[in-house]
Amino acid sequence: MVSSSSSSFSPEVSSLQLAMAALIGASFMAISAFYIHKRSVDQILDRLIELGKKSPKTKRIQRVYNDEDEIEVEEEEEEEEEENRDSDDDEEEEIDRILWKQRLSNSRSFDDVRNLRYGLSSSLPNAVLTNYWRSNEEDERKFIDNRSSSFNNLNNLQSNGRDGIMHFYNNAGSRTSQEFLARPLTPKSLVHNGLESVEDFEEEPLLPDEDDNSFLSVPIDSKSMKLHDSIPANYDSTFDSSGVVNDVSAPDKPNGAMVSRSHGDANLLDNQKLDTGPTHIARKDLFDIFMPLKTTLHERPNREEEEVCLLLRQCLELREKYVYRENAAPWMKESVLESNFPMVNNDPFHYDPVEPTEHYFRMEEGVVHVYSNKNATEDLFPVATSTEFFTDMHHLLRISSLGDVRSACHHRLRLLEEKYRLHLLVNADREFLSQKGAPHRDFYNVRKVDTHIHHSACMNQKHLLRFIKSKLRKEPDEVVIFRDGKYLTLKEVFASLDLTGYDLNVDLLDVHADKNTFHRFDKFNLKYNPCGQSRLREIFLKQDNLIQGRFLAEVTKEVLSDLEASKYQMAEYRVSIYGRKQSEWDQLASWFINNGIYSENAVWLIQLPRLYNVYRTMGTATSFQNILDNVFIPLFEVTVDPSSHPQLHVFLKQVVGFDIVDDESKPERRPTKHMPSPSEWTNEFNPAYSYYAYYCYANLYTLNKLRESKGMSTIRFRPHCGEAGEIDHLASAFLLCHNIAHGVNLRKSPVLQYLYYLAQIGLAMTPLSNNSLFVDYHKNPFPTFFQRGLNVSLSTDDPLLIHLTKEPLVEEYSVAAQVWKLTSCDICEIARNSVYQSGFSHAVKLHWLGNKYYKRGSEGNDIHKTNVPSLRIVFRHETWKEEMQYVYSGKVKFPEDIDH
Ligand SMILES: *[C@@H]1O[C@H](CO)[C@@H](O)[C@H](O)[C@H]1NC(C)=O
Ligand SMILES: *[C@@H]1O[C@H](CO)[C@@H](O)[C@H](O)[C@H]1NC(C)=O
Ligand SMILES: *[C@@H]1O[C@H](CO)[C@@H](O)[C@H](O)[C@H]1NC(C)=O
Repeated sequence: MVSSSSSSFSPEVSSLQLAMAALIGASFMAISAFYIHKRSVDQILDRLIELGKKSPKTKRIQRVYNDEDEIEVEEEEEEEEEENRDSDDDEEEEIDRILWKQRLSNSRSFDDVRNLRYGLSSSLPNAVLTNYWRSNEEDERKFIDNRSSSFNNLNNLQSNGRDGIMHFYNNAGSRTSQEFLARPLTPKSLVHNGLESVEDFEEEPLLPDEDDNSFLSVPIDSKSMKLHDSIPANYDSTFDSSGVVNDVSAPDKPNGAMVSRSHGDANLLDNQKLDTGPTHIARKDLFDIFMPLKTTLHERPNREEEEVCLLLRQCLELREKYVYRENAAPWMKESVLESNFPMVNNDPFHYDPVEPTEHYFRMEEGVVHVYSNKNATEDLFPVATSTEFFTDMHHLLRISSLGDVRSACHHRLRLLEEKYRLHLLVNADREFLSQKGAPHRDFYNVRKVDTHIHHSACMNQKHLLRFIKSKLRKEPDEVVIFRDGKYLTLKEVFASLDLTGYDLNVDLLDVHADKNTFHRFDKFNLKYNPCGQSRLREIFLKQDNLIQGRFLAEVTKEVLSDLEASKYQMAEYRVSIYGRKQSEWDQLASWFINNGIYSENAVWLIQLPRLYNVYRTMGTATSFQNILDNVFIPLFEVTVDPSSHPQLHVFLKQVVGFDIVDDESKPERRPTKHMPSPSEWTNEFNPAYSYYAYYCYANLYTLNKLRESKGMSTIRFRPHCGEAGEIDHLASAFLLCHNIAHGVNLRKSPVLQYLYYLAQIGLAMTPLSNNSLFVDYHKNPFPTFFQRGLNVSLSTDDPLLIHLTKEPLVEEYSVAAQVWKLTSCDICEIARNSVYQSGFSHAVKLHWLGNKYYKRGSEGNDIHKTNVPSLRIVFRHETWKEEMQYVYSGKVKFPEDIDH
């Protein structure tokens, strides 16, 4: 829309004239968009052609049209137009004329016009987007400068009663910038657009009426426009604000789009703030400076939003009140390398006798209380009571269901998503370049942690099959099981199943989750039984069987050595404690120690299945308190006096987290504020998720306080949550947990999702496994969460049931990358997140992520270790800071270090 004839402007031309030229150019876009609302594209093109045939004003126009070459436009034209302008009432006619005007000033063929209209949709080659018809950059810039300086007049002129047009004008203004923006993008970058949720991309490919907004190829819905209302006139108008926000009320800096355009390819990548002005634009040296896309609008929320922010702040503060954090972060401790990393040099199974302490503990109301000695009365580590917790949880749930808060959070999340897209649009190439520039690193040799995997399903099915066959061949006479009153050898077991080693194949093994398991957790769990036979599961996948879990230990060691061979893959395995008897802990620990199960690539989490109702009906438990006793008493015993369970003491050094698992979709009663205490819970119903969560949390909290005070490792609460079921699971996890596995249901609650974003709570998502159980792959919210900047990682869950290859974690990344078109930068970022979320020690994280990994923002990122460009980290960090500033009305002070 900027004409090639700019060189012909004489210096005397008044700024008003230029303004008119600009206005008309801009209006053309606007009006055409407006127009297209009513008519189809083709119609408008026909209209243009028609117009071309019968020129309304002058013959010259005819000439221009006939001539395919660029032709200078003469000044008088514009004057004429101007004079007629005000007197002209007929809108149609005026539109025609303006269209003509546009035709003239562009002097381009209709094809060009068509391209202009479509040019911004991502489906066309980028060449179209460039202003290739321009040659003289210098003039161009001057022209633009002049144009921009006269935009104020335009603004006033326009806002006199023509609101609709005014609005479009602004859109068109940003559109201009889009052309410049789009210029450096190669088709490769366009791939990023594929990351946008598939629906958006497919359903609205080229709708012309979206055109003005669609430079990100995603329509900005009318709701997000609401944002504009809240922007004060003096906001810090920055580069993208002209694109995302069609700001009407900022007359001082009306066209950031125009000014922040630039010439060289390199400069196109500099996201300069508007304030730096055009003179800075040509500076090539800015290429090396990482300037994140500054998306701040410095919004000052209006009163309603102020209230919403207040509520959100309350929620965040509630979380701070509950979540357990060590008093001193590991990096603050002096002797971190010796105290936290003994396993590298030492024997991991070495037991140093530790003197017991005087501490005395007692279960009270389902929570262990610790006293400094038997006679003391002061509770050393007080923890919030259950009534307090349920009250807070209800408060949180009430906030998250308020309409105002919901829509506000929804808007913020949408904004986050758009910011990310804009970031990609501008910086994708540069991110890729800096990845290329990082020596040695690529996706294959960055550390990635499988943050969520169940130990009993950690091998893939082929591996298990091979293992079973080899056992049948090598140890057929091993007595493995006691069934129906007699001891059976492995050979006899297979004979009783009418199977030989030759018969066995993966299909017969039948452990793979398939379409029958979708939404059928019961069937899914049956799949844990090889060949549908619980006795094979008993023999091969259990720790507490006749052979003391020897087979499971052997296959585990094979898996661990595969893991070590891959070197860059780590895993956090979940092993079960059921809470049926207190000796479970010692059994588990001795299984580990006796079989020598240890790997530097693995740490362990404890998972507690929420099966109270089952034990209650079986008679193994009489009240919920029994389960809590069985799970937590041994932990306190070993902490106070390690010599009471030496093996457990050693094993706990490898345990980094505590998980609660089971089918969340089972119906449950939402807890009220006053729940019966665990010892009163004697009915046969399973307590609700949040009831389990609170009691696990509270006991872990005291346990960790005690362990920390004694210099021992701590155990974080990292439950399964939000895979299915009610939203209150996520609410309770928000208050209590370090991070969670799954979180798929966050898509149902914008408020909680936004809170999870603000608190940067880690989500270990498993799109493949959930594919077979609860959410179809393409509906998985992972890509949306990732774009919005939630703290997500990918994990495998159950390779035995889900995955087909030898490297399930890579398979998981690979499928995600293929389906959602993640770039190498994206998957490296996800891998980096996974290391942060994991429970590996500070010392190894230093080694894996760089020796400042605990700093926030780009300072904490080392591209030579993580292969994530600082640009990406800066973008994430700045965006997060902006959101926090928004919520805290600019009054938040950011810590330098990450949460620990
Ligand atoms: C822009 O305006 C300046 C003064 O305001 C003038 O010197 C310059 O020639 C103008 N440029 C163009 C291209 O008209
Ligand atoms: C606790 O009190 C009893 C008597 O009340 C006393 O014999 C014992 O020594 C006290 N123990 C400690 C650790 O103070
Ligand atoms: C993501 O979560 C983990 C804990 O789960 C945390 O350590 C890490 O700092 C978080 N990432 C960010 C960017 O805050």
